[in-house]
Amino acid sequence: MRRNPSYWLVISSAAVLLFMLVILTSAASASGAQTLNTLPQQATPTELPGVANETCLQCHGQPNQTYTFANGEVLDISINAQDYSASVHGRGGYACVQCHSDIRAYPHPKYSADTARALTLKLNESCRTCHASNYNQQQFSVHAAARAAGKEEAATCTDCHGSHYAQRLTDIKTHKLLPQTRVWIPQTCAKCHNAIYQKYKTSVHGSALLDENNQDVPTCIDCHGVHNIPNPTTAAFRLKSPELCAKCHTDKAKMARYGLSTNVLNSYVADFHGTTVQLFEKESPDSETNKAVCYDCHGIHDIQRTKDTTTGLRLQENLLKRCQTCHPDATINFPTAWLSHYEPSPDKFPIVYYVNLFYQFFIPGVLGFMAILVALDFGRKVYDRFKPKKTPPPAPPAENPPAKEAAHG
Ligand code: HEC
Ligand code: HEC
Ligand code: HEC
Ligand code: HEC
Ligand code: HEC
Ligand code: HEC
Ligand code: HEC
Ligand code: HEC
Ligand code: HEC
Repeated sequence: MRRNPSYWLVISSAAVLLFMLVILTSAASASGAQTLNTLPQQATPTELPGVANETCLQCHGQPNQTYTFANGEVLDISINAQDYSASVHGRGGYACVQCHSDIRAYPHPKYSADTARALTLKLNESCRTCHASNYNQQQFSVHAAARAAGKEEAATCTDCHGSHYAQRLTDIKTHKLLPQTRVWIPQTCAKCHNAIYQKYKTSVHGSALLDENNQDVPTCIDCHGVHNIPNPTTAAFRLKSPELCAKCHTDKAKMARYGLSTNVLNSYVADFHGTTVQLFEKESPDSETNKAVCYDCHGIHDIQRTKDTTTGLRLQENLLKRCQTCHPDATINFPTAWLSHYEPSPDKFPIVYYVNLFYQFFIPGVLGFMAILVALDFGRKVYDRFKPKKTPPPAPPAENPPAKEAAHG
């Protein structure tokens, strides 16, 4: 029997849909497998035509082996076999020669590196094979820029991770940072930025992390990034910085745990300093601003609780010092009249609070009253205009002559 053409249309589109569904689900399951194993697995040790770790460890597994560079620097070339096995690469079964891919036997190929640092930088290229995205990001970091400018000591992969004893930092399934990683981070940066670490350690953020293992506070990388750390002293970084703080300080769930206001960004933006900074950020993100951003008042690595009785900003003297960096003539009364993100309450700025409250009711009250008056008036006018004409009652003409009515009007 003959089918109507729309029947075949339905059948064929159903077939196409089914086909697409099959393709999509198989792609999805493939990408699911991919996310479980985001790191490209290079050849596993058994497949590797190379050299077993034992070969290398025959010599390098011996303690106290050293090599002396022509300039007199001494390099420790002993590897602790046990610690290597416990590292993330050791546990994964990775072989020495997967990183040292140009070494097969002794004597080794001669490198042009004639200082320990030059050797480190050269061997760090090996991370690229398997961690290309971290490697590529790193090219844009302040550290790479500093190295390019001749500061060889600026951090490269193994300065932060170590070479042979690198540990897992993220959860293998969720890819989130492990709790111990957050503590490890500032300690790692401290190797070279110790003065900043010492400040951070005693700040409201750093002390919460390091003393209480609080996972809500920022470590160095929440503010700076990791592999592509940008220069934090640029105008663009400064203008964007309120958003950096706001990421957490407008998070209601997070701030509720500490009883902190989430209105700090809004009240800052409403203030003249913040209004200008926000405008600049939108219109010309690279222009310098001399208006205060969050850290001009609160500090950067040394942020303290505002309630702190010696260092807190609620103390007029402490706040005044901050104002004076830009308003050098400010006297003790200068900050008094300024509200920024104080939220007026019956005990703080009671006058402002009650005036606000008054206006909250007064203005809607007045406007509402006016609106009612206008509406009544309008209603009246409409009513007057359209009200049904009073049809004069059919009265006996003799008793109500028209002349009498005219005399009334
Ligand atoms: C017979 C002992 C011996 C064996 C086996 C050995 N090494 Fe070495 N290795 C040395 C010595 C000695 C040095 C010091 C520099 C030199 O003499 O070239 C060294 C230096 C190194 C260095 C520092 C860079 C350099 O060349 O200066 C690396 C990396 C290295 N070895 C890796 C390996 C790896 C990987 C293996 C296994 C494939 C291995 N070694 C096997 C003795 C050995
Ligand atoms: C994950 C990559 C990786 C693996 C795996 C690896 N190395 Fe290295 N190795 C490096 C890097 C990078 C350096 C330079 C590190 C530095 O100077 O900080 C290095 C340096 C060395 C040195 C020079 C001394 C030093 O510590 O700087 C020796 C010797 C060495 N490796 C031997 C070995 C042996 C033996 C194994 C296997 C047990 C091995 N490596 C596994 C990456 C690796
Ligand atoms: C200034 C210190 C620093 C330098 C330099 C650095 N890292 Fe990291 N790296 C970290 C920190 C901190 C983390 C944990 C934070 C994260 O995962 O976002 C991390 C995470 C990682 C991870 C695991 C998470 C991920 O992103 O896959 C890998 C792999 C890694 N780094 C490899 C590298 C390689 C390769 C290099 C060199 C090209 C490098 N790192 C340079 C500090 C550094
Ligand atoms: C041969 C490939 C290979 C090379 C080369 C390599 N890695 Fe890895 N790396 C891996 C794999 C695979 C993992 C994940 C292991 C696992 O999941 O157990 C890993 C894990 C890591 C981690 C932990 C990641 C996390 O999410 O916690 C760090 C840090 C790391 N590597 C740093 C380095 C550094 C630094 C170098 C260069 C010195 C390097 N790797 C070279 C394959 C490699
Ligand atoms: C191995 C040493 C070393 C380690 C570890 C290290 N840095 Fe650096 N860092 C440097 C050097 C050197 C510079 C360049 C300083 C300069 O230009 O005066 C630098 C520059 C910076 C800058 C830019 C400073 C500026 O004035 O522009 C920032 C931000 C920074 N590092 C953050 C970090 C963070 C965050 C970590 C930890 C995740 C870290 N660094 C780990 C050595 C290190
Ligand atoms: C709450 C955010 C925040 C945290 C956490 C933080 N920083 Fe910063 N950092 C900043 C800001 C903002 C600047 C820019 C300051 C300026 O304009 O001078 C800065 C500047 C820097 C600089 C360059 C200027 C200087 O003073 O030398 C370095 C280096 C640095 N930070 C390292 C670190 C390290 C290391 C840690 C962790 C111990 C850390 N920071 C934690 C926000 C932060
Ligand atoms: C990763 C989230 C996060 C970021 C980013 C962050 N903070 Fe915080 N901050 C917190 C948490 C959580 C607390 C509460 C810690 C506690 O009380 O133990 C806190 C506390 C504070 C306090 C103390 C409040 C009080 O009086 O008790 C101030 C001030 C502060 N932060 C300012 C800033 C500034 C300014 C920035 C940006 C430069 C910033 N924070 C960035 C999470 C963050
Ligand atoms: C002009 C100075 C100034 C600027 C700019 C400023 N603050 Fe404040 N901030 C203060 C003062 C003063 C207090 C204490 C007032 C209070 O809460 O009673 C305070 C209080 C806070 C508190 C504690 C709130 C609470 O509930 O106790 C946080 C958190 C905070 N500020 C974060 C920020 C953030 C984030 C920014 C930028 C978006 C910022 N501040 C900008 C001066 C400033
Ligand atoms: C980073 C620098 C900086 C800091 C810190 C700072 N201000 Fe300002 N503030 C400015 C600039 C710039 C202006 C705009 C001045 C102008 O246009 O004449 C301004 C304007 C003002 C004005 C508007 C009236 C005027 O003089 O034009 C007040 C009020 C004010 N600030 C109060 C404060 C108070 C209170 C503090 C301390 C809690 C403070 N500022 C901290 C930079 C700053």
